[in-house]
Amino acid sequence: MSNTAPQPAAAPQRTATKRTVLMCKPTHYTVSYRINPWMHPEEPTDTSKAVEQWQSLVEVYEQLGFEIHQIDPIEGLPDMVYAANGGFVLDGVAYGAKFQYPERQPEGPAYMDWFRQAGLTVAEPEETNEGEGDFLLIGDTIYAGTGFRSDSTSHEELARVYGREVVTLTLINPSFYHLDTAIAALDPEPDAEGRSNIAYLESAFDEPSLAILRERFPDAIIATEEDAAILGLNSYSDGYNVVIASRAVRFAEQLREKGYNPIGVDLSELLLGGGGVKCCTLDLHPIGTGTSVARS
Ligand code: ARG
Repeated sequence: MSNTAPQPAAAPQRTATKRTVLMCKPTHYTVSYRINPWMHPEEPTDTSKAVEQWQSLVEVYEQLGFEIHQIDPIEGLPDMVYAANGGFVLDGVAYGAKFQYPERQPEGPAYMDWFRQAGLTVAEPEETNEGEGDFLLIGDTIYAGTGFRSDSTSHEELARVYGREVVTLTLINPSFYHLDTAIAALDPEPDAEGRSNIAYLESAFDEPSLAILRERFPDAIIATEEDAAILGLNSYSDGYNVVIASRAVRFAEQLREKGYNPIGVDLSELLLGGGGVKCCTLDLHPIGTGTSVARS
């Protein structure tokens, strides 16, 4: 007798690739100004707790075999922990950040100094942009956010610097002010069919941007409002392991259904500044040198 009950489609095999990242210890972290709706300077923050939680993220990355670089934190720059905003690095070139708010502007040159010392070619920005907070490499294309922080003129500058396709996506909800709060890039390397998948929050985008996402990523994970509301999408994937906010429980299930391995971390203290896992992580994209590591 044959079993005719429908079987769930087997989740695809995923492959982890070794990542190289830049991070900044939150030694001087606090919330002393308000440049996004998550920040409440009138409420206390606990810097040592932020350091402990950040350290737990470092430990997860170490266990995953990532190569971790650190930039020295600078006193008076409490948001420097959100390294993803410090620039965009690809093909050995670092496109520097030019922050919108004066409170963060000194971070731009500080990160550019680090890039130079690391041997990267630095492209100094003329246009306002907040680095990998708004720019995500997915496949061969750079998806670039605008609406709150990075100016769309920076997307043109980015295309000139890298000679790659840059696709503009417009964010419409101030709580999801950077692209990396509304989209998670899941596959640093394309799969066997040459595809790279994402997870995203539909309500964060305007209609034309949604049309682009639906057309280009028909198999995307659609995040729930609940998970997005704790910056659950602000996650970092090596292609198999996806480091996410531990409270993003539905997102964890959705990832498992697609064959990924979600790993939860608690960065509640850094959420008070409006950032999560991905914000604390700048991908140094060593394209061509990334070696595959076996999945556990
Ligand atoms: N307080 C910081 C800001 O508003 C948080 C940045 C979060 N970073 C990110 N990549 N989304 O600029």
